[in-house]
Amino acid sequence: MMSGSLYERLGGTEGIHQIANDIIDNHLRHPRISKRFAEKDVGKLKKGAAEFIITGTGGPNVYEGEDMIATHKGMNISDDEFMAVVDDIMGALDNNGIEQREKEEVLFILYCLRGEVVSQ
Ligand code: HEM
Repeated sequence: MMSGSLYERLGGTEGIHQIANDIIDNHLRHPRISKRFAEKDVGKLKKGAAEFIITGTGGPNVYEGEDMIATHKGMNISDDEFMAVVDDIMGALDNNGIEQREKEEVLFILYCLRGEVVSQ
């Protein structure tokens, strides 16, 4: 079993960039939320997602975006959309061979952030 920070167990900077790319690709083809991302700069979304995860899981402090409330303010995001994002993230972890234990840790972090994203 792998030990170390969640950052390390998700494959470090390289592994997390791959996971973030897959998360955004999943969002772009997810019927419940794809419209939210339609007009956005995909490269910027992937970079922002990767850096957020790197910083939030114990890696280097590379995230320069806004906090989650400021980022999602005024979007009026529903619980259903939140679940779609969670599903996409779990799918991306599966796709990159991430194991159950790490998936549970990510799920816990996402759940803790729910109140900063939904209905802001
Ligand atoms: C816990 C769940 C979520 C996390 C951790 C999260 C995280 C992020 C991060 C890190 C960014 C990029 C910020 C930046 O680079 O400056 C972002 C942007 C965005 N998020 Fe979320 N997000 C979550 C849930 C959602 C949900 C449920 C939706 C709606 C479907 C959503 C829609 C968006 C959109 C549309 C943007 C782009 C904003 C823009 O650049 O104009 N997010 N999110």
